[in-house]
Parts: sequence; C-alpha cells; structure tokens
Amino acid sequence: MASTAQVEVVKSSEDNTLRNSKYVKGVQYLVENGVMQIPDVYAQPPHQRVDATKFESSNEIPVVDLAGLQDDSRSGVLAEIKNACERWGFFQVINHGVPVPVIERMMDVARRFHELPTEEKMAYYSAYQSESPSRSHRFQTIYNAEKQTVLEWRDSLDQKCYPPPEDDKWLKNPIDYRGEVRKLAKLLLAVMSEGLNLSSDALEKALGDEFGQNFLINYYPPCPNPELVLGVNSHSDPGALTVLLQDEIGGLQVFNEGNWFDVKPLANALVINVADELEVLSNGIYKSVAHRAIRRVGDVARISIASFCNPTWEAKMGPIAELTKTNPPLYKEHLFRDFIRHFRSRYYDGKGCLDNFRLPNNL
Ligand code: OGA
Ligand code: NI
Repeated sequence: MASTAQVEVVKSSEDNTLRNSKYVKGVQYLVENGVMQIPDVYAQPPHQRVDATKFESSNEIPVVDLAGLQDDSRSGVLAEIKNACERWGFFQVINHGVPVPVIERMMDVARRFHELPTEEKMAYYSAYQSESPSRSHRFQTIYNAEKQTVLEWRDSLDQKCYPPPEDDKWLKNPIDYRGEVRKLAKLLLAVMSEGLNLSSDALEKALGDEFGQNFLINYYPPCPNPELVLGVNSHSDPGALTVLLQDEIGGLQVFNEGNWFDVKPLANALVINVADELEVLSNGIYKSVAHRAIRRVGDVARISIASFCNPTWEAKMGPIAELTKTNPPLYKEHLFRDFIRHFRSRYYDGKGCLDNFRLPNNL
C-alpha cells in the first residue's frame, strides 16, 4: 500500500507532465499491465480518502415510481419529484419507460469499448474537447491536465448525441438508448416545471431550441488500493439535468448536509440529478448537488453512463422571470457557453463553478 510519504504532488501546471505522461492511456491500461500498487499520482490527499468497503447510510435518496404519473397518484409523484429536487438534487426512477433490452445493449457497448486494446481506444483520444470539436467520440482519462494534481481512477468516452454528430460511426447501437433517455428527460423537465408552478414546457423551452445531449461512458476498473483513490472527485454537473445508468457495483455518492450518501444500485433504475443550470433557472429552488464516485473494493470493473442534458450554447441562462416576482434573482444572467467555458477552465471541486454566477445577495 502506498504510504502518505510516497504521495508526491505532480506540478502539472508548470511542466505539463501529466499531459505528456503515460497516464493518458487510462487506468484500464495500468490494470491490464498488472499494476500491483497505484502510481503516487492517483493517491488522494488524506482528507479525501474513503472507506471503500462500506456503504454509507443509503436508503434515503428517494426512489420514485414513474408508473404513478399515468394514474390518480400523479399529484403524489409530482410532489415526490419536487421534494427530491429541493432537498437532495438527486433521485432514482423506476418504471421510467426505457426498455430493459435497450439498457442492456447500452451497457454492453460501453463495456466493449473500454475493453478494447489500448491502441484502438487511443484513436479516439484527445486531451480536451476544444482540440477535437467535430469528433463524435472522445476518449479521456485526465479531466484537466493543466489544473489537476491528483488523477482519478476512471476512463471515459465522451459521446455526442444531440445535435447528432456528422461522423457518427462508432457506437451506433445506443441510438435507441439516446432517444429513450431524451424522451425521459423531456418528461422529467415537464414534471419539474409543474413543480415550480410553471407551464409544463417552461424548463425545456428555457434550454433553447432542442437541448444538447452527450454521454459520458465511465469505466472504473478494479483498483489495487481503492481506499487511496477516487473514481471521480466531488463535482456538480454543469448542464440542466443528468440521467445516469449505473451497474450493480455501486460507488456513486451524494453530498447532503455534511455527509456522503450512497446511491445504492437498483436494477434497471436510472439516477436523475439536478445540474447547475437547473438550479439557476429555478432561482435556487432546485438544488444542484456535489457528488463523486469511489472505487469500491472488488475485482470487477464498474460501468456508469451519464447522459447530460444541456442548454444550447447560446441559450441565455438566469432565473425564470416568473420565479423572481416574489423572490429576488439569485444568479447573474449569462450564456451557457460562458458557463461551460468557466467550468472547463478549472478542475472541479464540489459546486464551485456556480459561485462565479451568483449575485451578491447569494454569496
Ligand atoms: C459524472 C458522474 C458518477 C458515476 O460522470 O458526471 O457524476 O457514478 N459520474 O459514475
Ligand atoms: Ni456528475
């Protein structure tokens, strides 16, 4: 096991070591090469380390049965979702309408990609989105080589979904998963609009003409020192709404009132979370919440697929006017493009990006 003394900080911002290091090949590459102990650059500082063996109090994150939207329990379901968005920023949904075979096929495609030979995955590699703007897929393992000093135990494939990219050659299969998740996201945005006493199309409209969508297909291989690493550091998602599919391994944790809570895997459920711009649009009523993924003890890789629903680049973000009649606006108006630029310019740490867009009465 790596001791604290061995943990050295790599000064990536000065010499750009990380960007040109062998670590760009990903953590699965290390595992395939028989890594027995994590390289020091993956070791979190002591205060970030976790108990990778136990589940935290985990039954509290709401599970909402969407079947009730079709019958006379509808108002109860609306209230559960509103409450979850206000109190947790997270909930799971069951009976969400995405067919199980579609989910299984998506998981299978994700696994097949991440278990390809490294050279094949590296054909999709670029360090930053801005270096491959027209590509439909981008393989990545280091989030921000200039700003980050500790690496995460995660490989990801970023796949553009909407607007549909031109070179859509890989991963054709999940096309139906994309569409199904988009349908679900639209339904949830309508329900969330109603929860704010707005017309049911209010939130979707606020995201601009046809909201953007991309997948982050995450792969967290087994780790020889799981208590020293994080799969993904604490962050909030920048867009509007995230729909996450996770397998049965677990590791996603949500921060609430000073504690971390596990989002315990539930077969075929989807995890929904409020992202930063939905907090902004709702004028702070719905909460975007810090979350992270730990790498649990165990010898099976974990897979999760985050589907991010984002405002269009040019959509103007700010609290929806009707919500500022009785309460003053809490966030500055801005373009989503500028929010993302700021988000990408830093290494995430909790909910920090949003701080730049708060009005003085909300600091
Ligand atoms: C993300 C994320 C969590 C997970 O990709 O934004 O929060 O469980 N992932 O993989
Ligand atoms: Ni996230």
